[in-house]
Amino acid sequence: MPVAQPLSFPVTNPAGFALLDSEPAFDPTRHLALEMPETRISLHDLGYGDEEIALCPSDLGITSPFRVLSDEGAACMLEVARLLSAHATSNFRIERLVRGGTYRSRFLRDLSLSPDVCDWISRILGAPVLPHTIPHQLGHLNYNPEKIGTNVDKWHTDTLRIDYVMFVTDPTKVKGGEFQYFQGTKHEMKALADAGRPIPAGRIVSPSLPGAGYAVLQQGNMVVHRAKALTEPAERITMVNGYVPGEIGYPDFTRYDQLYLVDPRHVVTEKYTRHVAWMGREMLRDRIDHPAYSEDRSLDAAHFDRLSALFAEAASQIRNADNAHAEHFGDGE
Ligand SMILES: [Fe+2]
Repeated sequence: MPVAQPLSFPVTNPAGFALLDSEPAFDPTRHLALEMPETRISLHDLGYGDEEIALCPSDLGITSPFRVLSDEGAACMLEVARLLSAHATSNFRIERLVRGGTYRSRFLRDLSLSPDVCDWISRILGAPVLPHTIPHQLGHLNYNPEKIGTNVDKWHTDTLRIDYVMFVTDPTKVKGGEFQYFQGTKHEMKALADAGRPIPAGRIVSPSLPGAGYAVLQQGNMVVHRAKALTEPAERITMVNGYVPGEIGYPDFTRYDQLYLVDPRHVVTEKYTRHVAWMGREMLRDRIDHPAYSEDRSLDAAHFDRLSALFAEAASQIRNADNAHAEHFGDGE
């Protein structure tokens, strides 16, 4: 598959998203301390079969923790996250979060779009990626709920393909608040949730993140995960940065209806439409740039079928957003 050309970050901010007055400037030479993870759990390890894995850009499920930020980078990230906390909102899964922070913070935007980090993530994944084409899927921040015992985020899969979850605060300094994933498939988790059965404790994994600025990389739509409650009052912040496969042609898991439930109405359609238009542009560009002289008419007919299906699906999702209902697997242990 061809590698796509990136989509530029929007040149204008949506109404209500002003830049921070003052913040540190992102400096990759001082703020990054990229390391490789020691181990990787494959989608096979989680129980997925060859057919489903073939539709993914990589066979990675989730990595062990690896370092992203230097101590100085982590300190700047924490400063920015605290500044952005003034814009925290709530949704059906998460009590306190900031989405769209990349419109407000140049530091968060530059880190989320960093070519150095993007190349590193591609190396870990074993497939090319690009920063997510939907700005609200970049630099997503989760903050601890005010109430002790409330989970930071419920069990769920992401509506994006690839993301890293990075601790902005030091996870070793707080009680609880673990990032956890299910050692199994999303289909098994759905069956458990539908049957009202608890998740076997032995199948819940809590990676041991050693400090602020460390992350795990996952195929977030395939790995069921959550963020557990704090058990004592403390500050807990994580940052989730999304990527799209660099090769166009994998099924797109973006869900307009789920975005419609959590993001501002004046922003959500624009960003989804731009994302779909980018996929279409890249599919068309590839065909234009690579003439294929052939007597086989079926190939081009199939190409236009794929384009039509992409746009028809987008139109359907936009039109039917009023039927959206919140999707997650709950708080079950
Ligand atoms: Fe997630």
